[in-house]
Amino acid sequence: MTTQNESPVYPPSAETIAHAHVNAAEYDQMYTASLADPDAFWGAQGKRVDWIKPFTQVKDVNFNLGEVSINWYADGTLNVSANCIDRHLATRGDQTAIIFEADNPDEPARNITYNELHSSVCKMANVLASMGVAKGDRVIIYMPMIPEAAYAMLACARIGAIHSIVFAGFSPDALAARVNGCGAKVVITADHAPRGGRKTPLKSNADAALLHCKEDVKCLVVKHTGGQTTWIDGRDYDYNALAAEASATCVPAEMNAEDPLFILYTSGSTGQPKGVVHTTGGYLVYAAMTHEITFDYHDGDIFWCTADVGWVTGHSYIVYGPLANGATTLMFEGVPTYPDASRFWQVCEKHKVNQFYTAPTALRALMGQGNEWVEKCDLSSLRILGTVGEPINPEAWNWYNDVIGQGRCPIVDTWWQTETGGHLMTPLPGAHAMKPGSAMKPFFGIQPVVLDPTSGVEINGNDVDGVLCIKDSWPGQMRTIWGDHERFQKTYFSDYKGYYFTGDGCKRDGDGDYWITGRVDDVINVSGHRMGTAEVESALVAHVAVAEAAVVGYPHPIKGQGIYCYVTLMNDAEPSDALLKELRTWVRTEIGPIASPDVIQWAPGLPKTRSGKIMRRILRKIAENDFGSLGDISTLADPSVVDDLIANRTGK
Ligand code: WT7
Repeated sequence: MTTQNESPVYPPSAETIAHAHVNAAEYDQMYTASLADPDAFWGAQGKRVDWIKPFTQVKDVNFNLGEVSINWYADGTLNVSANCIDRHLATRGDQTAIIFEADNPDEPARNITYNELHSSVCKMANVLASMGVAKGDRVIIYMPMIPEAAYAMLACARIGAIHSIVFAGFSPDALAARVNGCGAKVVITADHAPRGGRKTPLKSNADAALLHCKEDVKCLVVKHTGGQTTWIDGRDYDYNALAAEASATCVPAEMNAEDPLFILYTSGSTGQPKGVVHTTGGYLVYAAMTHEITFDYHDGDIFWCTADVGWVTGHSYIVYGPLANGATTLMFEGVPTYPDASRFWQVCEKHKVNQFYTAPTALRALMGQGNEWVEKCDLSSLRILGTVGEPINPEAWNWYNDVIGQGRCPIVDTWWQTETGGHLMTPLPGAHAMKPGSAMKPFFGIQPVVLDPTSGVEINGNDVDGVLCIKDSWPGQMRTIWGDHERFQKTYFSDYKGYYFTGDGCKRDGDGDYWITGRVDDVINVSGHRMGTAEVESALVAHVAVAEAAVVGYPHPIKGQGIYCYVTLMNDAEPSDALLKELRTWVRTEIGPIASPDVIQWAPGLPKTRSGKIMRRILRKIAENDFGSLGDISTLADPSVVDDLIANRTGK
């Protein structure tokens, strides 16, 4: 085994360096400048976007617990939709803004120009306004991966409404919780969402969700498959009919830089998902800058991020970053393995994709299908490859590098979070060497620090590990949790005073390069999607047969981490295969298919301290099949439960 310090190092090629926006010397100079004078650095970067009223202030930030407040460009005004569309019209009105590739490969691709994007977004904005949506109102978007999802985002931004996208894989219950959580006025959805040849009935899910919401919440329905839906007059609005009548112009609202642009719900270590709030000015500057520099994006490039707009990756790198830069961005409705394992590579060939950005879990799944699926495609257009969402294992990295990139394409392993708005650490093509599995270097303005988890003291020097915090703010940082600034401060600023706490562990190797080692809290990462163990537990205990549940992650060959559930049944319930199936379906209904338990183990007792706290460390070890290092179990109220759990470990 090679240790991380002995990891192979791949320096950038002369060709990559010559092409890149930033080389090694420029990175060093700019990075130093970004820390030395953040106001000057970010003041200059703020000019990437067009302001209605230019800002005169740049950074105004306080990380002190009790007073946390984050403001960037606070006296400037702008409109995100005007920045992503209108300002490009004079020079690139006929250029393709969005390439839409449908789930079904036989359906012709659609190329939407900036001019077309402009009229579609204005129409959608006018439809929303006619439904009573005004500045500051919340709109839920529950959509397939179709251009109308991007129109909906930009239409909200155009009139100053705050969107909150709910991934189409979430259940009606999860949707209802988010509609109610942010007090949305309208839910935008479509009839059905095709994916991998199957269809999710989005409108019926929305119907089911709206039963649990206030009566005046309206539903705007986009016709996509033409599939049958039920209709409630007065509540449901037909997008296609209304858009056909709507005006194709709409004056963009003048928004303050610190007005919220969107809310995105994400899982935490405790409680229900929290509404991460991103604002207008700083977010857009940061998304645009990272999109250009991390991916070495140049005018005319075809950029493809395979994420769903339901995740932050889709917000920043399908819609806002690329469109702010006047790029051509590809939106793909399908999945990597439908109709077969060559789909991604066929799409790359068909649209001559230059930058390709995906998740390690997809690479692992495709790698297992063999190289013949790749080799029959012409991938010569690819120039930059990216990964995101979880640590990438060296096998997947090597396959990506050798088979997909054919050794020519730098791989940017981008570490970031829903909370950060954009990349915080990544090697930059042309500036940094790559090491398989390392996020390498901080982006401009980012000061990563490694802290001792117990003392909270900064660990200096190299060859060290600990918890990862960030010392100072950057423009793309989240500003608050919707409706709960206390929780925001408590979650991110209370464990390590004066720092933003990421929830990740990390190592800084002998060369000073960063390696993310995974979450240090009760959050697990399933196929690059964040899942709170507490959420799955509360879904399980909501079932009548379940008395108690504890959920942990365990290593899974494709998903990165799988969901392992220990379940204690009520006295009158009997363990059975039928009940096991029922609980799995139950969790899918409560949260969504992404939360589907991989393993359920019946646990007559759970390992608890005398004060009643479940010792998850032990449960994690058992789930990992690592019984030799359970550590000290003497503090358990009843140590014998551990023997029982080991004896009955599922799949042992
Ligand atoms: C968590 C954030 C950012 C968009 C996708 C996920 C993990 C993310 C990497 C990476 C190692 C990574 C972290 C982080 N993560 N990117 N390149 N290497 N780990 O967003 O759902 O907010 O999850 O994903 O653990 O904290 P998210």
